[in-house]
Amino acid sequence: MEFSIKTSVAEKQHHHCVVVGVYEGRELSDAAQAIDALSDGYVSKVLKHGDLEGKLESTLMLHQVPGAQADRILLVGLGKKAEFKEKQYCKAVRASVKALSAISADEVLIMLAELPVGEITTRKKVSHLVETALDATYRFEAIKCKKEASEEKESKKGIKVLNIQIADVTDLAEAKSGLVDGKAIGDGVSLTKDLGNLPPNVCTPTYLAEQAQALAKTYRLTVEVLEREAMQKLGMGSFLGVAQGSEEPPKLIVLQHLKGHQDQKPVVLVGKGITFDTGGISLKPGAEMDEMKYDMCGAATVLGLFKTIAEMDLPLNVIGVIPTCENMPDGRATRPGDVLTSMSGLTIEVLNTDAEGRLILCDALTYAERFEPSAVVDIATLTGACVIALGHHATGLFSNNDSLAKELLQAGEQALDRAWHMPMWDDYQPLLDSNFADIANIGGRAAGSITAACFLSRFTKKYDWAHLDIAGTAWKSGKEKGGTGRPVPMLTEFLVSRARKSS
Ligand code: BES
Ligand code: MN
Ligand code: ZN
Repeated sequence: MEFSIKTSVAEKQHHHCVVVGVYEGRELSDAAQAIDALSDGYVSKVLKHGDLEGKLESTLMLHQVPGAQADRILLVGLGKKAEFKEKQYCKAVRASVKALSAISADEVLIMLAELPVGEITTRKKVSHLVETALDATYRFEAIKCKKEASEEKESKKGIKVLNIQIADVTDLAEAKSGLVDGKAIGDGVSLTKDLGNLPPNVCTPTYLAEQAQALAKTYRLTVEVLEREAMQKLGMGSFLGVAQGSEEPPKLIVLQHLKGHQDQKPVVLVGKGITFDTGGISLKPGAEMDEMKYDMCGAATVLGLFKTIAEMDLPLNVIGVIPTCENMPDGRATRPGDVLTSMSGLTIEVLNTDAEGRLILCDALTYAERFEPSAVVDIATLTGACVIALGHHATGLFSNNDSLAKELLQAGEQALDRAWHMPMWDDYQPLLDSNFADIANIGGRAAGSITAACFLSRFTKKYDWAHLDIAGTAWKSGKEKGGTGRPVPMLTEFLVSRARKSS
């Protein structure tokens, strides 16, 4: 899908479809009123028949509207005018794009970004619109057979060019920046979804490393991939303890986007990259185990984010660290009861090999110290317990620094990709006591997502750190199974506002 910005006279040009909003109570938006006037009251007549009340996300396609230049007019419900905020706006955009995805409307003019949406700027409105349109039309096509893929490409369905009408010509530059932002976020989200959706026999640690190298080449970033020997030299016994049960070689991927001031301390992002989690010797039950291909969504988030900030050319120093391997049962696999020595020197009693995420992250978090970070954020599909606590709406947020936590919470609100602040009080720490090592890798059933965060906190004492547990938000199960691309939007907002503050 291509995007372009249009100013005032666009409704007089020919389009295959023009999208206009109607508030609840059949109240026409300005754009809908203009078309109503052109058509001699045709639109309001249709509404009087009761075909569309204006309920949020409802749609009605009108054909051959008298006086209109467009082949069709799509009316979309906006809900109550007083309640029309960012979230409702995005829902209306999504409903419009979905309604158009099954028909052939190549050139579409959408007149929703000119609506007043709370206090937000034109830049934000356009950005949300583009991001939402890309999200709503995403399809996983990476490994369809060639014939089917090319047939789909040739089919005429769906929007080819989405023209975005804005109210004020003086906002043109702002709207264009919004288009760049939205496209960058949408592209990053798509990459994150693709990597998550790929089957685990394709998306291996080696594959992720190749993707990082490809990104680095396209956007001229620095990339380094550490192999097992290098990690042995660094003393990453915890990470390698997880990797040792797999035939696939582990990788530690380090990506650097250094577009800030030379002396600016970087933000380091650490992504869990378990390309398949069987549980290891503490084998998981069979049901839905296929979904454990998504256990690399933290890694995919980091890669997607790097695509986004590279496309934005964001003036900030950002470093990505991705520990990636498989968690498999094997004759050489780590056993429950084994004690591993982490890079930090802390010894870890592995009481459950299925609590492997924290074992690979802890060494990556120690490795992050060398960058003297201004903040470290890790992103991980870490615990089933987080899904029980928060469901699929909010990402779990844990931090050793309240102002960093606040920054991330606000970024999530702004990006409509929310997190919820969870406690990480010292009271929980004794749950990780071990009789045979410095620390155990599990803390029992109670407060599972908190004890997982507490485990990580033992390795993050030297810097400001936050942990995002995305077990409930990174992908959807059931009929709509697929990656969501979260929390790329939240973290983009977080980095953009850091860049704004530092300039
Ligand atoms: N990758 C899983 C967490 C997970 C499970 C995410 C289900 C999403 C859905 C993680 O490695 C894991 O297995 N965690 C265990 C920890 C437990 C053994 C303390 C869990 O949550 O059951
Ligand atoms: Mn596990
Ligand atoms: Zn896992």
